Amino acid sequence: MQQEEFIMKKRIGILTSGGDCPGLNATIRGVAKACYEMLGTDNVEIVGISNGYYGLIHNMCKTMTPEDFSGILTRGGTILGTKRQPFKMMKVIGEDNVDKVKNMKQTYRDQKLDCLLTLGGNGTHKTSKLLADEKLNVIGLPKTIDNDIYGTDVTFGFHTAVDIATDALDRLHTTACSHSRILLCEIMGNKAGWLTLNAGVAGGADIILIPEIPYDIDKVCQSVIKRSESGKNFSIIAVAEGCFDKEEAKLKKKERAKRRAEAGMVTATNRIAAQIQEKTGLEARVCVPGHMLRGGSPSAYDRILATQFGVYAAGLIQKEHYGMSVAKVGGSITANRLEDIAGKTKFVTEDDTLVKTARDLGVTFGD
Ligand code: F6P
Repeated sequence: MQQEEFIMKKRIGILTSGGDCPGLNATIRGVAKACYEMLGTDNVEIVGISNGYYGLIHNMCKTMTPEDFSGILTRGGTILGTKRQPFKMMKVIGEDNVDKVKNMKQTYRDQKLDCLLTLGGNGTHKTSKLLADEKLNVIGLPKTIDNDIYGTDVTFGFHTAVDIATDALDRLHTTACSHSRILLCEIMGNKAGWLTLNAGVAGGADIILIPEIPYDIDKVCQSVIKRSESGKNFSIIAVAEGCFDKEEAKLKKKERAKRRAEAGMVTATNRIAAQIQEKTGLEARVCVPGHMLRGGSPSAYDRILATQFGVYAAGLIQKEHYGMSVAKVGGSITANRLEDIAGKTKFVTEDDTLVKTARDLGVTFGD
């Protein structure tokens, strides 16, 4: 008697959590298409969970069809919707009396899920680990324009954001030059300087300020004046939104925020611009691309990375290898155990090759 191949049917939950970014849909598509391919379309049911963990808490689920995953490779944002659901509040019962962890486990059971895919950044991964500890089969996929997820060289969304920030710096050059101005571009990245460092180098910034290298405003001004005295009528400064000066570096985050609020300057970039103007007499202006950095279609690099990550996740599902987060390390797609990476942040280090390249080029970090 011929033995029939026995394929386990899989019901796969998928959610996107935290800030959106280009490449989320490309990743979702990669997972879905590869699951249908590897397990057979009849053996796979994909359940889309709306608005991240909020949707998992409130059972906002929809069984999707293969058609749902067509035509989304190039689409920005997320077809599932997303929401911020802070990890530190996950175990806290709020005024609504909702036990979030209990509800998430209940939805997983009610939806008869075999596994849950979580596309997100650091906060998302902490909750993924929490759910894995609660015996749910979880696979994380590293998404963020900040590129600060530990254990992976790169996250999807990052390279597209680098391209957009670089374009912003390119465009600022023309106005800076025409008007003889100092133009400061505030770049997202939360507490990490990856986006600013990469865009700064790609966009030819003269000064790059990142949280990992606290600056001295006098050094920043000296650099601006040096350029001016050498005949350059403008300077471009790439400023990470999370950067701070050497004095602030000694303070706790709350104390820092308080001081800034008292000084009437919400962002570091505005304060730096005001200080430069006052100390050098040169006109300084601020540009904040903000959420434009997260918008639009993913770059070719991010489409490829997202697709590779999605396909790798499908392979993990096939092997029932859970409690992992997909990663790219040294050119290979691989996976880390959630317990090894959740709660850790990847920061720029002083010996990073790009920091060195920039310094060798004469770029100042204000230190
Ligand atoms: O984590 C991505 C990110 O864009 C950070 O760079 C930024 O600090 C934050 O999200 C902004 O969050 P929101 O869109 O919720 O204001």
